[in-house]
Amino acid sequence: MEFYITTPIYYVNDKPHIGHAYTTIVADVLARWRASQGEQVRFSTGVDENSQKTVDAAAKAGEDIRAYTDRMADTWEAAWRTLAIANTDFIRTTEAHHHEVVRTIWERIEAAGDLYKGTYEGLYCKGHEAFMKESDLVDGLCPEHKTAPEVVREENYFFKLSAYQEKLLEFYDAHDDFVMPAHRFREVRAFVEQGLDDVSFSRERKEGRAEWGIPVPNDPHQAIYVWADALVNYISVPGFEGWEHHPADVHAVGKDILRFHAVIWPAMLMSAGLPLPGQIAANGFITNNGVKMSKSLGNGIDPLALAAQYGNDAVRYFLLREIPYGEDGDYSETKMKDRYNADLANGLGNLVARVLTLAEKENGKGTIVRGTLDPALDRAAMATARTVGERMASFRFSEALAALWELVALGDRYVNEKKIWEIADDAARAAALFDLVSLLEAIATLLAPFMPATARAIDAAMLWKDDVLHATKPAVLFPRIS
Ligand code: MSP
Repeated sequence: MEFYITTPIYYVNDKPHIGHAYTTIVADVLARWRASQGEQVRFSTGVDENSQKTVDAAAKAGEDIRAYTDRMADTWEAAWRTLAIANTDFIRTTEAHHHEVVRTIWERIEAAGDLYKGTYEGLYCKGHEAFMKESDLVDGLCPEHKTAPEVVREENYFFKLSAYQEKLLEFYDAHDDFVMPAHRFREVRAFVEQGLDDVSFSRERKEGRAEWGIPVPNDPHQAIYVWADALVNYISVPGFEGWEHHPADVHAVGKDILRFHAVIWPAMLMSAGLPLPGQIAANGFITNNGVKMSKSLGNGIDPLALAAQYGNDAVRYFLLREIPYGEDGDYSETKMKDRYNADLANGLGNLVARVLTLAEKENGKGTIVRGTLDPALDRAAMATARTVGERMASFRFSEALAALWELVALGDRYVNEKKIWEIADDAARAAALFDLVSLLEAIATLLAPFMPATARAIDAAMLWKDDVLHATKPAVLFPRIS
């Protein structure tokens, strides 16, 4: 495996909403893009099960915890199948092999002298699975989860994160694209420069709380902190040898969990004597009509319903084109429909229909043969391929798609200027059509990672037999929506 990309592993107490789908789609596009460049790809996603949230959600559902996690893991996996996500691996943190890797990492960190027992006293937000400061609260509640954090006083193991401040800063200096986009990297660096506190890395196991989860080696009264467990999934997927040989190239995450990935995780790996991942790419948050999506508000947008209405590819297109990567973005039905009608129905869909309607008329005449491409179109297609490549390398998906759509506009102009339907001369008409179908081929190739089914439909409409084109106008790719 040459290129290894991951998504976060999602908590099983919720079902996928459009925000989760967004991060997964980003990873999917990158995975497909790398594969289209001839690389071998490992692309992993999965579920984070060893959390207190799981215990609470199973109890609330009145289900046995195992049965609950099995059912929810299936829900997540099935969602990714429906959305045509091309992950090669799906990890569950209840798997025995993952537990083994987590224990080994714990032992390595302990052997490095980076774990010590201390008393933790403070506030714990179950929603975040993280400790909070008094100053984080609004009216005594976690501002995100609107719940009062638990007051916790107990013996925990602590990870000496404070010992890694200098090493992290040195590492950041040497890897100036470690966190993408750049403004997020500046936030991470500023956070680390302020100085780091040690982190509680375990919880007491007691009735109804943390009896689930992975026991600390040689101390079964403690369970490994769910984040210290979850992050290790990235190693469990390829196994130790796999990771040592080739750690993840990209961890695609949301901005909410960037510190875990860009600060704690590298420090854990340094402590365990393992190589660090290549990049952490953090997307912004999607709101629903300007409102944050949350379980309590029940306003999470279901990606499966959206895909059933508009098609998988249209959802992918919307998310990647509408939201500049790294920024927050908003979903609304109006925005979705505007993009759909303007860019897909009237844009790409219309060009494909125009060109292939004209090309189909030539079937049986054998006139469209492989020839020499119009040099201006050829240059434009090559320049776009370069531009798309550069923008993909820096996670600028929206701009990559914008470049691709300039090629669509070029095709439209070409059809209008040439007025193909008025060309009486067979050879001249065929030459113009050859230019256009070649342009569609170029568009389909570059489009494939973003909109795989659409690219396949375009390709399938153009069959070359002995260098003669047989074109079939495909069914309307994107019927207009009112
Ligand atoms: N289980 C942890 C991750 C462990 S990874 C070692 C977790 N899970 S989660 O289910 O809460 O998923 C969080 C991720 O979902 C975010 O980092 C982000 O990728 C995605 N999103 C959740 N809500 C989102 C939005 N509203 N908008 C965009 N992405 C969002 O945290």
